[in-house]
Amino acid sequence: MFKGVMLLLDFTALSVVGCQWGDEGKGKVTDFLAAQSDVVVRYQGGPNAGHTVVVQNETFKLHHLPCGVLYPGKICILGNGMVLDALTLVAELEGLKKRGIVAEKLFISDRAHLILPYHLRQDSLEEVKRGGGKIGTTLRGIGPAYEDKTTRRGIRVGELRDEKRLKEKIAAVLEEKNELFNKVYGDEGITLQMIEAEYLPAALSLLPYITDTSYLLSSHLDRGDKVLFEGAQGAMLDIDYGTYPYVTSSGTLAGNICSGSGIPPGRVGAVLGVGKSYTTRVGEGPFPTEIKGETAVLIRNRGKEFGTTTGRPRRIGWLDGVALRHACRLNGVQHMALTLFDVLSGVGKLKIATAYRHRNGDLIEQFPAELHILEETTPVYQEYAGWSDDLSAVKNIHDLPQAAQNYIKGVEEIAGAHVSILSVGPRRDQTIWRL
Ligand code: GDP
Ligand code: IMO
Ligand code: MG
Repeated sequence: MFKGVMLLLDFTALSVVGCQWGDEGKGKVTDFLAAQSDVVVRYQGGPNAGHTVVVQNETFKLHHLPCGVLYPGKICILGNGMVLDALTLVAELEGLKKRGIVAEKLFISDRAHLILPYHLRQDSLEEVKRGGGKIGTTLRGIGPAYEDKTTRRGIRVGELRDEKRLKEKIAAVLEEKNELFNKVYGDEGITLQMIEAEYLPAALSLLPYITDTSYLLSSHLDRGDKVLFEGAQGAMLDIDYGTYPYVTSSGTLAGNICSGSGIPPGRVGAVLGVGKSYTTRVGEGPFPTEIKGETAVLIRNRGKEFGTTTGRPRRIGWLDGVALRHACRLNGVQHMALTLFDVLSGVGKLKIATAYRHRNGDLIEQFPAELHILEETTPVYQEYAGWSDDLSAVKNIHDLPQAAQNYIKGVEEIAGAHVSILSVGPRRDQTIWRL
């Protein structure tokens, strides 16, 4: 069998990471590969993620839980690099239970951080204060929770084991937060009673799942079990290499798998990059290949491009090869899953940005660190002939129209990676291996 397919099927550890601004179809691809794995791990982010998986005619939207949860018996780990909102996690578990899915082998890191109600409040207040410069966050408290982790006032999941100390700590942090809310934002703040009444019972119900997941994961790797790491967000939302400050607050690159799950670099394995056949972005911030008008509306409707977490219409653009190449290089991607390929049928002529042209005439081929430079550039496009055939039932790569094959070649050239998986629809059976 072809080396790439072997790599993706015969893995010990394999990572699925987003190569754009999120929503690339990581959920679908992880679910597809989870069939062959024993353990599925989330290692960063929190309920800002919205991973959609379609199993037969049922659609699941997962925010905290790894996609492996949809298969019976898979071990699911929420790693230490995550931030968890107990209320939404419990709601997610209960929602699945009502649909007959029980997360029987769920493990939550005792070192993961909790998102508390004051983080949600802070996220909203900060966004309002930013006014026109808002980030367009998911308002899930992600930034404030990671901020508290870094400034060392965060509350970790393991602290749920000692309720008395936990309450004392929450009360102390809350005092600081309320001072901030009152004095800076003129907000009345949050009472300890509110947290004790609603949030704490949900958080404490998670106690049976809490463990040292780094140790657990190492023992599975020692045993030769297959481990799949499920990235959230995408490279362009990475706190360091994304379009800062219009990014999320965690490291979304494969390099963060180690610190976010507690394993050494040598155990991370191959990295499968997931990229949409065009580009979308939800939230504010630069988007060099953004398009508006009829074509954008057509793609948005065909691809059902509305946020999984917030329902916001996603911004639409041509495939940004500069961003994709940046993402593949940073993640060490040799193999890609190219998704939502079916959506491009009937769009007409297609474009892929291969570089940006600065207004001073310079050609920019590497994604710049400073956003004002992006604003002074326009994308340099390579045009491709489109196709109108419905591809959603194609099972074999050779049945694709020549124009579609040319477009895939164009993606590979700019990304410097092989498209090993082609996704032509949201369902599991709409996935093609490409040799
Ligand atoms: P994620 O956050 O990366 O997991 O992606 P989302 O789930 O937020 O968004 C991807 C959307 O595209 C979901 O609605 C998927 O069901 C859907 N999807 C995934 N792959 C395909 C595909 O190949 N074709 C189409 N039409 N939809 C897809
Ligand atoms: P998945 O895993 C798309 C975006 C938000 C906002 C920025 C910061 O489904 O791909 P945050 O709430 O994280 O502080 O918001 O990041 N964002 C996402 N966009 N997909 C996601 O996750 C996202 N998670 C965060 O829209 O622009
Ligand atoms: Mg999503």
